[in-house]
Amino acid sequence: MSSDQGGNQTWGGRFSEAPDALVQAFTASVAFDRRLFLHDIRGSIAHARMLARVGVLTERERDKIVEGLEQILVEIERGEFAWLDELEDVHMNIEARLTDRIGDVGKKLHTGRSRNDQVATDLRLLLRDEIDGLLGELARLRAGLIEVAEREADTIMPGFTHMQVAQPVTVGHHLLAWQAMLERDAGRLADCRKRVNVLPLGAAALAGTTFPIDRESVAAELGFDGVAENSLDAVSDRDFVIEFLSAAALIMTHLSRVSEELILWLSPAFGFVDLPDRYCTGSSIMPQKKNPDVPELVRGKTARVTGHLMSLLTLMKGQPLAYNRDNQEDKEPLFDTLDTVRHCLGLYADMVPHLGFDAAACRRAARRGFATATDLADYLVRNGVAFRDAHEIVGKAVRHAIDAGCDLAELSLEDLQRFSKAIGPDVFDVLTLEGSVAARNHIGGTAPEQVRIAAKRARQRLEADAPAT
Ligand code: ARG
Repeated sequence: MSSDQGGNQTWGGRFSEAPDALVQAFTASVAFDRRLFLHDIRGSIAHARMLARVGVLTERERDKIVEGLEQILVEIERGEFAWLDELEDVHMNIEARLTDRIGDVGKKLHTGRSRNDQVATDLRLLLRDEIDGLLGELARLRAGLIEVAEREADTIMPGFTHMQVAQPVTVGHHLLAWQAMLERDAGRLADCRKRVNVLPLGAAALAGTTFPIDRESVAAELGFDGVAENSLDAVSDRDFVIEFLSAAALIMTHLSRVSEELILWLSPAFGFVDLPDRYCTGSSIMPQKKNPDVPELVRGKTARVTGHLMSLLTLMKGQPLAYNRDNQEDKEPLFDTLDTVRHCLGLYADMVPHLGFDAAACRRAARRGFATATDLADYLVRNGVAFRDAHEIVGKAVRHAIDAGCDLAELSLEDLQRFSKAIGPDVFDVLTLEGSVAARNHIGGTAPEQVRIAAKRARQRLEADAPAT
């Protein structure tokens, strides 16, 4: 309670005046950290139960506190909770409301803890749940890619290097490359989750507490794998946020690369693929336009997530042990990252099964760029020509085909034989697109048969590491 002589409601006896209005506005975090309410209440309930187990609270006190906290949770979920800036943050808002509701016994909840270990606990609990949600969205997207890869296992498109037509590949093979990126991302999230899932509570402000606390039992109740070993580190560490943001930035980098390819493929200049209208937008001036705004925005939002990773790295770089208020700045970048990545993954997971490939357009593009030139060189090698000589011979044949305005496969046998006597009538088998992809029939290769096998293996791995429900 504030004293009547101009005391300070939040900070109590030591303070002789109320905070400056600007300072209060500047330091308050409740506008954004209220997002932690559920995990704050869960952590407080576990703390109160432990305090009763070790005899710091009576069972009656514990029951009143737990019941009060559960009622506050309902109030918040119903939107009836009055969040107050003057109470600074989510922790003080909930604690003050507890004392309002249940009286002085509410003031005992904060025994043996500090907001420093409390906020670190809340953040880890929330992030753990969010990682599980993201793993679910990643799994959904990966499943969609595998499904479309199987559907398009035989569809031939140009493979590019330097954005120039290189060799024919199958669409399914390309989609499984995207899947491979996202599979690594899921592994990184799962790995990061292990280091998130450690309990800081018990570190109190920085040095531990004089009460006979039982941290292991709190860890077990909250589903943590263990307790943080060092109290100074426990309240100060934000590695787990940085690790998560770096995994998130990589996810976005991958989605951005996928987006870039989709944007190209959706352009009428390529015309490889189409998206249902509901995933596209129009132009206010050009009536013919169907714009790929979702992939463009995903590509654009990658910038903010990369920025958030830089924010956290910079936030931590000069901090001495233990807790510093700087750490309050960890939340907005983290929360924005969580929302951004979840929306982007969710949209892609919804969209990918509806990708409609135009096999004829893909095939036309593959034929245009002499995509089977390497196959001709390999053919010559099989017929006894050294690879470097074969490279030279095929280069000349391509030059000739460019001048004649046709593909290698459209040259006559006599024409081709002018470049090498090693060419026979069976050359046309290797100059077809189907022959070219089918010949790359080994693990990791683009042959339709391999794509089907790879898709099956990817699905087995996906099912094996699906988050336990
Ligand atoms: N709002 C603070 C944060 O986000 C909670 C911890 C405050 N601790 C303190 N000693 N002022 O980090």
